[in-house]
Amino acid sequence: MSSPQTPDADRAAEQAGRLALVTGAGRGIGAAVVDALAARGARVLATDLDAGSVGQVAARHPDGQVTARRLDVTDAAAVEALVADAEDTLGPLDTAVNVAGILRTSPVLDLDDTDWADTFAVNTGGVLHVSRSVARRMTGRRRGSIVTVASNAAGIPRAGMAAYAASKAATVMFTKCLGLEVAAYGVRCNTVCPGSTLTDMQRGMWERSGADAASAERAVVEGDLAAHRTGIPLGRIADPADIADAVAFLASDRARHITLHDLYVDGGATLRA
Ligand SMILES: NC(=O)c1ccc[n+]([C@@H]2O[C@H](COP(=O)([O-])OP(=O)(O)OC[C@H]3O[C@@H](n4cnc5c(N)ncnc54)[C@H](O)[C@@H]3O)[C@@H](O)[C@H]2O)c1
Repeated sequence: MSSPQTPDADRAAEQAGRLALVTGAGRGIGAAVVDALAARGARVLATDLDAGSVGQVAARHPDGQVTARRLDVTDAAAVEALVADAEDTLGPLDTAVNVAGILRTSPVLDLDDTDWADTFAVNTGGVLHVSRSVARRMTGRRRGSIVTVASNAAGIPRAGMAAYAASKAATVMFTKCLGLEVAAYGVRCNTVCPGSTLTDMQRGMWERSGADAASAERAVVEGDLAAHRTGIPLGRIADPADIADAVAFLASDRARHITLHDLYVDGGATLRA
């Protein structure tokens, strides 16, 4: 039985009284981040390009705890307008979590310029727009936490993923540079780098390869040395909640002395060599 001193009880109140903005919150990891922060007591402004899906995520929470809004993170003016409106109507943002991302796979020799530009527009430009907008306000209040979901592809070369991996590596370094600039104002900036995680993004990649889901998942876990992939040492693919837990930790006061950090949540897939 839990008492007020147990970790579970502490966790339930960890984000009490706080307001968090989450992008890419309509499904997958973003939706899990909304659930994780709400379970810890935060009010959440859940945003996504797809208004319908993020509305469904908000609907599974009690009245008023999660507000859903459509947001295209590539649109800097729309980001600024949403953040300004959120602060006017909901209050000061304590936390921002950049989750919105896209994956376009192709060998570099066939890489389409539009795929390259779109990938950077969402995965890197979107993170700039949201982080800059919230950091301007957080620095004035001398508190706040920004967590960006990048990818373990930022730290290891992957065939067929050059645009994605390069965009995520840029995003990790952008977040560290921002973190350095705002540290004096008590604002923390960290990244979470997931490995393969069971979401529509992962399933889409399997579908395009023509493999059935079960054998594709097994191949991810076991690895493929011909493709220079070592597999996942912990022997399982991540659930979105595994990533969301790491995000919630970095957003919390338990991580109050952690900034400019890059937390890999990939079951050891990149060997962190
Ligand atoms: N699933 C994985 O294996 C994996 C691994 C490493 C990193 N990641 C990263 O985690 C994040 C979430 O991935 P996921 O697997 O949940 O993906 P997903 O495709 O299931 O969900 C991504 C969400 O982002 C939204 N989105 C896309 N473009 C947007 C835009 N311009 N503005 C706002 N929202 C937009 C989509 O509508 C969608 O709801 C991404 O940044 C992804 O790169 C995922």
